[in-house]
Amino acid sequence: MNNIQPLLQVSKLHKYYTDGNVRAVKDVSITLEKGRIYALMGSSGCGKSTLLNLIGQLDHVDRGELKYQGLPTEKSTINSQFRRQFFGYVFQFHHLIPVLTLRENIEAALIHNRMTTSERRLRAETLLQDMGLKHRMDSRTIKVSGGERQRAAIARALANNPSLILADEPTGNVDSKTSQMILTHLQRYVKQQQSAMLIATHDTQVSSIADVVLHMKDGEIVSVDDVTGTNCV
Ligand SMILES: Nc1ncnc2c1ncn2[C@@H]1O[C@H](COP(=O)(O)OP(=O)(O)OP(=O)(O)O)[C@@H](O)[C@H]1O
Ligand SMILES: [Mg+2]
Repeated sequence: MNNIQPLLQVSKLHKYYTDGNVRAVKDVSITLEKGRIYALMGSSGCGKSTLLNLIGQLDHVDRGELKYQGLPTEKSTINSQFRRQFFGYVFQFHHLIPVLTLRENIEAALIHNRMTTSERRLRAETLLQDMGLKHRMDSRTIKVSGGERQRAAIARALANNPSLILADEPTGNVDSKTSQMILTHLQRYVKQQQSAMLIATHDTQVSSIADVVLHMKDGEIVSVDDVTGTNCV
């Protein structure tokens, strides 16, 4: 371990859903470091999405602690602006705004930045171009294919240069060529920006880009394969 703050520290995290009486996450402790890709694997219902949602502050933690770059969540610096800049979310279904064009969707993600309209437009175009969507920028989301939507969703997730990408089955609904394109792009981003990515998946094509594979069962991390040999739990 170096003495630089890890990007994220998760300590003894628990989540219980009273609705259904489910202990979805049990005593999970992990540390995520910059520049690394973590795959979260396990059978359906084992708690992957719940853990991602807790880490991404999309759901309330019952017990345990999350620290972002050393800062606990209760610190006032962890506000909505911090969240917008820290996290990049990618979901299994794109969650783009259907009536907007792909470009407008990306511009909407940049709306809180101190950018002029033309800077936002240029940034959106560059991000979409990087995802091979130059020719689709001005098409409405409902008029493009599923793979194109998912690529636009990746562009949107990267719009604010996030420190941590949280991806839940990001390639679950695309063909293997598109999947490979998405994975290559995300991997390049993480390595170039020295951000990190936690990616929930069933797919070994996805886990093949991971530096660390976390295996989850019944809400717990049961084993860790770390190709770099550093212990993250
Ligand atoms: N909002 C909720 N309310 C009640 N129970 C929930 C809720 N969300 C998830 N669960 C339950 O918590 C457990 C973990 O669900 P989760 O969605 O995290 O699993 P997962 O590993 O992501 O599964 P999959 O691979 O199918 O996406 C499951 O038993 C699920 O039914
Ligand atoms: Mg899930």
